[in-house]
Amino acid sequence: MDNWVWWKHGVIYQIYPRSFYDSNKDGIGDINGIIEKLDYLSELGVDGVWLSPVNKSPMYDFGYDISDYREIDPVFGTLADYERLLEEAHKRGIKIIMDLVINYTSHLHPWFIESRSSRDNPKRDWYIWHDGKNGRPPNNWKGIFGGGAWEMDEKTEQFYMHSFLKEMPDVNWRNKELKNAMFDMIKYWLDKGVDGFRLDVVNLYIKDDKFRNNPFTIGPTPRPYDMQKHIYDKNRPEIHDILREFRKILDSYSDKMSVGEIFVEPADPKISQGYLGDGEDELHLAFDFGLIITKSSARLLKWGAKRFLDVIEKRNSFIPEKGWPCNVLSNHDNSRSISRFKGGKDAVKRAKVTSTMLLTLKGTPFVYYGEEIGMRDGKMKRKDIMDPMGKKYWPLYMGRDPERTPMQWSPDENAGFTKGRPWLPVNNDFYHVNVETESQDPDSLLNLNKRLISLRKEKDALNRGEWYSAKDASDDVMAYYRVKGDQKILAVLNFSNSVRPLKIDDQGVWKNIFSTHKPVGDTLKNIDFTLSPYEATILEQEGSGLQT
Ligand code: GLC
Repeated sequence: MDNWVWWKHGVIYQIYPRSFYDSNKDGIGDINGIIEKLDYLSELGVDGVWLSPVNKSPMYDFGYDISDYREIDPVFGTLADYERLLEEAHKRGIKIIMDLVINYTSHLHPWFIESRSSRDNPKRDWYIWHDGKNGRPPNNWKGIFGGGAWEMDEKTEQFYMHSFLKEMPDVNWRNKELKNAMFDMIKYWLDKGVDGFRLDVVNLYIKDDKFRNNPFTIGPTPRPYDMQKHIYDKNRPEIHDILREFRKILDSYSDKMSVGEIFVEPADPKISQGYLGDGEDELHLAFDFGLIITKSSARLLKWGAKRFLDVIEKRNSFIPEKGWPCNVLSNHDNSRSISRFKGGKDAVKRAKVTSTMLLTLKGTPFVYYGEEIGMRDGKMKRKDIMDPMGKKYWPLYMGRDPERTPMQWSPDENAGFTKGRPWLPVNNDFYHVNVETESQDPDSLLNLNKRLISLRKEKDALNRGEWYSAKDASDDVMAYYRVKGDQKILAVLNFSNSVRPLKIDDQGVWKNIFSTHKPVGDTLKNIDFTLSPYEATILEQEGSGLQT
């Protein structure tokens, strides 16, 4: 394929390593387990895999608290295993994206142990230290997991800042030595062959240098963090300078990429897509989560063609000319799409509509492990909860374990995930919802995803074409074109559980190239037909596609 750029034109799959496949019977997924499943990923057709962190960690936040960036945590394997993963993935044409968690380290990272040892330690300034005000924290900043953002260090009698847990002190990106140490670590992994990075909480890297108080607002939830406008601890302009430097490092290698996690509450694509810079000098891709959350993680986007379309159109309007969008419906921090979009007995039909959308929109699709088979959020009892957020907020909020349950491979014990005792309970629908069973059913969600991924590869209009909406979507039907050269494709999605008419004034003969309901291969004279409930159909204009 001409000019195939894997991170733009391909499909990326997110793995939460603890839950993917356990090769050594300890109940926790590991790197060798991922290697064993590479053939599955290659059959599915994915081009890149993003792994949530596997670096050495005391696991206060399940790997997002790193105590050694250059090592692999023994629970996941060894550095040699990781190198073998790179090699085996590359053999199959699959790229590996590492989670880069550099807004904070673990409190057990040697840098922090040194930094907190005395006020004049050379690494003191590698973290964010501040005097208190009469024994109280320096300002009103709050922790995203609850409580204040400052922790008093008894020994040196100063406060250090932490955006999340107190076991995760934020580093000071204004310090050049710290920055260089991080950049050296990034080069270390690039030299080992890592193909890209997912930048954890990238919009938090820099804090106000005057440590001003955030103003108050009326938040969407009573969580103290939501009761502030985050103008001084988030989205500070200097972050863009760091990203430009970071981009230069990536560009000094070939074919590397980055994707940033940008939580803006309420979701604001102007800010999130602003991290693409001019499209070529900052991040390659920027998640904005508009198809997941609206106002805050507590307010989820509800089902509806019009709602979805508004989010997509608005987001696209902020992509710089040389930039590229990406689309995501599920990840390890949010309720899984099939559970979020509800639908009762029609949940799988809805998932077929959203998978078709995800894989035909303009922009790199990110598929979260298990999404391709329709894995739902797990039901948790208090005793099962592992996530620090869940422990803190139960029963108001269960935390993020429900979306992190073990991958359902087969109808066997523990869904074939482990021969030990799984670290989180396996969902009780695994007997029907699993890779093995769905592989044998031509009509399964898994096979639909496979077909769509391969169609996306085959049709340039789908993997790189322009996108535009075909009509004013009713509340129920989304219809959009993908066009590349003279190849013209129309995707139509019925979000409702009733029959819907569709009429678009576009002459020509259209060939059905994919459908949940209509016979593939059939041709239609005009776009004037009815859609079955939850129908997803893709048409290609005949005579188009000759010159692409
Ligand atoms: C990011 C990660 C999330 C983690 C948080 C704090 O938001 O996606 O899983 O808990 O950072 O480390």
